[in-house]
Amino acid sequence: MAAPKQKSTEHSIQPMVEGVLRPRPIGDQLFAPEQGGTPAVEKIDTTTIGKRAPRYEMPIPLGWFCVAYSDELAPGQVVPLRYFGEDLVLFRTESKVAQVMDAHCPHLGAHLGYGGHINGETIACPFHGWRFNSGGECVEVPYASRKPAKVATGQCIYSYPTVERNHMIWAWYHPQRAAPSFEVEEVSETTDPNWTPYDRFEWSIRTVLQEAAENGVDTAHFVYVHSSAGIPKGVVTLDGPRRSTDVVSQNSPINEHGKRDLETLMPIRLLTKNCGPGQTMQWFYYNCETVMIGTVTPIDHEHIHLRFAFTQPKAQSSAEAVMAKGIIDNVVEQVGQDIPIWEHKKYQPKPALCDGDGPIAQYRKWFQQFYVS
Ligand code: FES
Ligand SMILES: [Fe+2]
Repeated sequence: MAAPKQKSTEHSIQPMVEGVLRPRPIGDQLFAPEQGGTPAVEKIDTTTIGKRAPRYEMPIPLGWFCVAYSDELAPGQVVPLRYFGEDLVLFRTESKVAQVMDAHCPHLGAHLGYGGHINGETIACPFHGWRFNSGGECVEVPYASRKPAKVATGQCIYSYPTVERNHMIWAWYHPQRAAPSFEVEEVSETTDPNWTPYDRFEWSIRTVLQEAAENGVDTAHFVYVHSSAGIPKGVVTLDGPRRSTDVVSQNSPINEHGKRDLETLMPIRLLTKNCGPGQTMQWFYYNCETVMIGTVTPIDHEHIHLRFAFTQPKAQSSAEAVMAKGIIDNVVEQVGQDIPIWEHKKYQPKPALCDGDGPIAQYRKWFQQFYVS
């Protein structure tokens, strides 16, 4: 599915539990021998079904990952999620604190995201009413004279470090549950009242973070996949978990009709900053202004949830606003062009790179810091 799901500003959260894996295209049917080779009516997809080694050997990387937009979670709301290959629950207490926790109750295993409810600063299990605070500690077993030893002291449900930045809720994932080693980066435009509310898009894609983000340094593909006028040249700066890419390319500008003006070339500067593997920020220096916050969240070892959120100055002229909308349309279209390649490519650990390729090897080395074996 190349078309993104665009989200309006008024919506409820979409739990990433069921239906996140999109239907595959349908291919030829297999013949059942006992039916004398008669094809069954229903076709199955022979391109994706069958025994096959996992596509990727990389573990899920550590980092901060967006699990929802802040306005998708009202005080008192409880939502089931599935990210990091885990069943999770996201909730907001009555004092408006957002929290991500492992989903299953230590008593008899109920999923807190299905029927759990908020009571003050705690979440109550739907099965027998045990209550847990945001730190994952059991604060009440309502019908027992004393709490069982397993939940009597300290955390009994893993509680992910959770913060809200840039109107998004972020959870820190570390495979060994170590504390955060860097912060989510704040982007001032996202909370500036002079900038528009987010224009949002999202996709679920059958790939992994490292592969999807390699797109940004794979400069040659912009010509062949996205029809750019030339291969962009840029400067990459690495700083621990942060990476920035400052690229200037000669390209066709978006005109006042929101379309590419193929008769013209102008210098276009794109500043991209990454903070860990899950947060991308882009500033488009163009004939109008746009800032994008891109987030990538691992659903499991082979699927990601990609969100793009755009904001623009409210004070733009109507022509600039049309041009800015054209930039958004173009970026979203580019994701649609990338998806079929991402979903069907094979990771080449030792790629045959040429001297015209972008800094792919440097990017892969930088990304290694987010893997914990
Ligand atoms: S399973 Fe949660 S209280 Fe019993
Ligand atoms: Fe791309």
